[in-house]
Amino acid sequence: MNPIGFFDSGVGGTSIWKEVVQLLPFENSIYLSDSRNAPYGEKPIQEIVALSKKNTEKLIAMGCKIVVVACNTATTNAIQILRDTYPIPIIGIEPAIKPAALKSKTKSIGILATKGTLSSELFHKTSELYSENIAITEVIGNGLVALIEEGKQNSEEIKISLRRLLKPMLDAKIDYLVLGCSHYPYLLPVLTELLPEQVTIIDSGEAVARQTKNVLEDHELRSSNKEISQHLLYSNSNPAVLGNLINAENHSNWKVEYLDF
Ligand code: DGL
Repeated sequence: MNPIGFFDSGVGGTSIWKEVVQLLPFENSIYLSDSRNAPYGEKPIQEIVALSKKNTEKLIAMGCKIVVVACNTATTNAIQILRDTYPIPIIGIEPAIKPAALKSKTKSIGILATKGTLSSELFHKTSELYSENIAITEVIGNGLVALIEEGKQNSEEIKISLRRLLKPMLDAKIDYLVLGCSHYPYLLPVLTELLPEQVTIIDSGEAVARQTKNVLEDHELRSSNKEISQHLLYSNSNPAVLGNLINAENHSNWKVEYLDF
């Protein structure tokens, strides 16, 4: 059965991939970690679009029936072009501003994302819908993706960065922190340690998984397979970091390999 394709600038999109695999256990998948080109968040739009097309074309060539752009930066800068260019359904991921804005009691929320996401038109359009009634503190997560790509998501170095990045949000009395980058769910243990209890952290993983299921059903693309599924994860730079991050050795049907793409 044709797989679901995923790509991200690196290892972080596996936070989305995991949610989809959990919700759709009989679907095969292919994940492309473009770690050689990470981070995308600092790159000009044209480069983000070109990399997103390269990854999508590779996934289509590998037989994927649908592509999940497991990267906020690629989604907010390139999704429309991908949808206009390729004939298969393309799912994107955006920072979960809406649920945070609707649930916030302090009327103050924080968004941690890359420069590429926070400066995109798509992000501005969404945040404008809520900024009248809610204070939104946007912070660029400078340096975080690079550290996670090195497997340093629990390091003292990342804690020092996060303390500095979270300060303006805490000063603004946020009660919701939106993780607007698919790498950041891997910071949950450290974030939970650094944030006061009254701050709720939200990401978009579950919503993307539900959306993927709905789109597959709408297009009659659900797998009829009832056997154990196969998951192939490729990195063009550091398969060891990718494998460690997802504990691949504990899953015989998850293969992590180097691939030049
Ligand atoms: N995981 C990507 C995202 O969701 C990271 C972007 C980057 O490479 O800077 O935005």
